[in-house]
Amino acid sequence: MIIAIDGTTSSGKGTLAKRLAAHYGLPHLDTGLLYRAVAKSALNKGIDFKDERECALLAAHIDLAEFDERELRTAGVGTAASVVATLGAVRRALFELQRKFAQQKGGAVLDGRDIGTVIAPDADVKLWVDASVEERARRRFKELSAMGEDVTEHGVLMQLKDRDARDSQRKDAPMKPADDAVWIDTTRMTPDECLAKAIEVVEARKAAPKEKKAPVKKPKA
Ligand code: DC
Repeated sequence: MIIAIDGTTSSGKGTLAKRLAAHYGLPHLDTGLLYRAVAKSALNKGIDFKDERECALLAAHIDLAEFDERELRTAGVGTAASVVATLGAVRRALFELQRKFAQQKGGAVLDGRDIGTVIAPDADVKLWVDASVEERARRRFKELSAMGEDVTEHGVLMQLKDRDARDSQRKDAPMKPADDAVWIDTTRMTPDECLAKAIEVVEARKAAPKEKKAPVKKPKA
């Protein structure tokens, strides 16, 4: 079973994806980490985030095992990731890796922005996870403060608004819910309630499996 989870930054999709994968014993890929790793590499090597060719070369050879996850999760790397994610060549370079992960025997859970629309449009279950931007800012502020980052809640709110706009307005694979995604608004939900809702959706799908469609092709350059 392929489970695609997309949604906005700090909506709770990452936590949900991790817990859902553990519940069903499925491997999980947080695809945001791939874009973060490309951005971090570019930062380390002094490569301009807008240099499409060089960033795509980094993306083609990215190995998450070479990175310290805490360094990838900072606010600065998140913003940089959102910029490199606008580059079509970077997205194409990361496509195969994500697609292979989705197609592994036994299934997988992937979370990101374009999983249900581009990476795994054939996913058995598609979830779109969102929350009000104010609530997301509160959560992200708490997270970043706990990581020792010097941020204000207002600053985080502004950054989230910027990021939402960049992620949803880019030309290639913009962040958007798939037509057949089930929406979960986590604004007033606890992580346990989100998990219970997602399990309900998966169980309903297991009881009524989707018809298989034509194989998915890599997006054209
Ligand atoms: O989920 P995240 O905050 O770790 O993602 C960081 C950035 O990576 C996000 O702002 C946009 C980009 N991203 C993307 O474009 N497509 C994905 N499937 C995952 C993340």
